[in-house]
Amino acid sequence: MAVEGKAVILENPGEPAVLRDVIVEDPGPGEVLIRVEASGVCHTDLTVKNLNGNGMPFPIVLGHEGAGYVEAVGEGVSHLQKGDPVVIAYRAPCERCPACLRGDPRRCYMALRPKQRIKRKSDGAVCSQVLRCGTFATHTVVHSKAAIKMPSEMPLDKACLIACGVVTGVGAAMNTAPVFYGARVAVIGCGGVGLSVIQGARLMHAKQIIAVDIKEKKLEWARNFGATHVVNAQKEDAVAAVRKLTEDGWDGGVEFAFEATGIPASTEQAVRMLAYGGTAVNIGFPAASDEIHLNLGDMATGVYWNKASLRVCHCGDCLASHDFPFLAGLYLKGELKLDEMVTHKITLNDVEDAFHEMETGDVIRSVIVI
Ligand SMILES: NC(=O)c1ccc[n+]([C@@H]2O[C@H](COP(=O)([O-])OP(=O)(O)OC[C@H]3O[C@@H](n4cnc5c(N)ncnc54)[C@H](O)[C@@H]3O)[C@@H](O)[C@H]2O)c1
Ligand SMILES: [Zn+2]
Ligand SMILES: [Zn+2]
Repeated sequence: MAVEGKAVILENPGEPAVLRDVIVEDPGPGEVLIRVEASGVCHTDLTVKNLNGNGMPFPIVLGHEGAGYVEAVGEGVSHLQKGDPVVIAYRAPCERCPACLRGDPRRCYMALRPKQRIKRKSDGAVCSQVLRCGTFATHTVVHSKAAIKMPSEMPLDKACLIACGVVTGVGAAMNTAPVFYGARVAVIGCGGVGLSVIQGARLMHAKQIIAVDIKEKKLEWARNFGATHVVNAQKEDAVAAVRKLTEDGWDGGVEFAFEATGIPASTEQAVRMLAYGGTAVNIGFPAASDEIHLNLGDMATGVYWNKASLRVCHCGDCLASHDFPFLAGLYLKGELKLDEMVTHKITLNDVEDAFHEMETGDVIRSVIVI
């Protein structure tokens, strides 16, 4: 039976997100209905709003960093049952694309998606769900393989962070780069994603982890998450500062530089702060018109002479079925900090305030508790 609930919806381009009554249909074959318990507010939700849906049809239910309980399972779903605690993955591998077929599901081209089963109550309009999730809601329907079971002792208001910010950041360090032990690492942007890169680099035993941000509070938090050095990019040139901190008689530089701001210039900086043969990782979500400029021939920092690589990280190149329980386990063992990431607990009514806070305030993650 369809359930009535509430969801935070973008109704039209340029308008604020609003809380609306919705009808959530029964899960279809291979799908599950989730009663959402908690959802982190990731910068990508704000970007989707700012980019007027980024190609998704309106109305759009926001939210993609969610955890909750299975409420009902669709036909053919045998690995989950009502009451199971789960974190929702937005990149459960499709099992059909060239990457999946060659046995490399971490690089799946497109994720499994459910049918759109959330309707606005007032007019029955079918809603898009951000990244196939739509977790700023009391209920949502997702593909059953995207609902990853959590250990029963895992608190869901922390587990939700694993769904995007944490798996993206930790995965960027562990999978995309991957960071080797003893490496020198720089992380530009210390929000929910960047602080998770710092944690990932710490877990991979990087010897130097240099946090770069424009806010002092972020840099203070970065130290708590494992940064060995900090650079305030508003006070000094980030590239020069990182090179100086890594001076080794060979012009310094880091083996791995991560961009986690969403600003194209940060990716350019990441490339320019590399040591010979280093790898820069672009994580931030670009607008269609965003471009970067890379010099090839400068003897010190040009991509050619410095033999630099640029990689792109989508959701930490994760395999959610493996990585989500692994990350939950690290949290339960005290090796992954999640409690410290939740700086604000809010309700479904407060999403616009959380967006404003994300742009102007001192926040790592606002978590909506439903
Ligand atoms: N690729 C992926 O799979 C993926 C996943 C999640 C998020 N994202 C994207 O990653 C980016 C970061 O997300 P978030 O949720 O951590 O955002 P956030 O807003 O929490 O953090 C961004 C941080 O960048 C800092 N910053 C801004 N301008 C800066 C500058 N010029 N130099 C240094 N630091 C600067 C801010 O102070 C803030 O601490 C966003 O673009 C988001 O859309 C991508
Ligand atoms: Zn996200
Ligand atoms: Zn695939």
